[in-house]
Amino acid sequence: MKKLLIVVAVLLCFLTGCQKKEEPVEDYDLDYLVLVNKLNPLPKDWEEKIRTVSFVNSIGDTVEVEQKAYDAYLQLKEELEKEGIYVDLDSARRTLAQQQQIIEDFTKQYGADYTAKVVAVPGYSEHHTGLALDLYLIIDGVDVIENEDMVQYPEIWAKIHEKLDDYGFILRYLEGKEHITGYAYEPWHIRYVDDKEIAKEIMDKGMTLEGYLGAAKETDVSLDYGDSVLYTKEELDEVLTRIKCQFASWKGVELNALKYAGDECASKANLDWVNSLEGGGSYLKAIEILSTFHTPKEGYGTLEADQTYEDYQWWLACGPDGDWDIVSFGY
Ligand code: DAL
Ligand code: ZN
Repeated sequence: MKKLLIVVAVLLCFLTGCQKKEEPVEDYDLDYLVLVNKLNPLPKDWEEKIRTVSFVNSIGDTVEVEQKAYDAYLQLKEELEKEGIYVDLDSARRTLAQQQQIIEDFTKQYGADYTAKVVAVPGYSEHHTGLALDLYLIIDGVDVIENEDMVQYPEIWAKIHEKLDDYGFILRYLEGKEHITGYAYEPWHIRYVDDKEIAKEIMDKGMTLEGYLGAAKETDVSLDYGDSVLYTKEELDEVLTRIKCQFASWKGVELNALKYAGDECASKANLDWVNSLEGGGSYLKAIEILSTFHTPKEGYGTLEADQTYEDYQWWLACGPDGDWDIVSFGY
């Protein structure tokens, strides 16, 4: 009899495809295209509106995600597993206090400069929306979770990014668009926008959410590394990214070009000068970058309205921690 029951169960399972019927996620009124960035804080009524689910990830942390984004993430994860790619969620929705804690932890681990490039200040993080998801990789059963380890797998990220739009996700912090998004490239930070057509358009065109929504002009920045014998392209990229991220908080200002001023900027006189500035004293290197940008019609701060600025100077300095700080900018 027991054998017969098992045979019937197996047969039924075979006929129905053994599918567990998931409850569909109910639609509700939420702006899935909400823009939260260095210039736009989390909308005030967001907390009352959002519906979330929580789960425990592979390292035992509880992760909270907006419910439709979570449903889409599970489908994406299942699809990736078919290709032998295993992911989990490190972090999704964060409270203001959690964001503050991340800033403090990152500052201790990586320094203030790196932290400013990758972590938003509380109130201005897309993670507050519950629609931003930080993935991590599980490779041969091992959790690959630290940023510096995750970036070692560009081929895996490329495969993940290819599939995002099918599930209503976009890649949020693109390489080369730091002057628009305000953050360095993050292959792990994906953003749920719900509408697959919109996601596809954004991903196919390699756009930022800011550009798609018309909140910023989708421009590229021309980069001139010069012919330095002091710095590698990677080192100069660190510095250029730092400046690009700064431009994203200058509302309406359009960055066009950044140029390394040349190895002569590393003179002893310049090093003494940066060390004489407030916060200076222990800098070991100084670097000068020249920028070209255009100001908006309504102007920005003390900059003149609707003007192209050329050779606008940026000075950065590097201390024993290896971090580059912006120490001065202007004409
Ligand atoms: N890593 C993104 C920028 C955040 O902290 O919200
Ligand atoms: Zn993130």
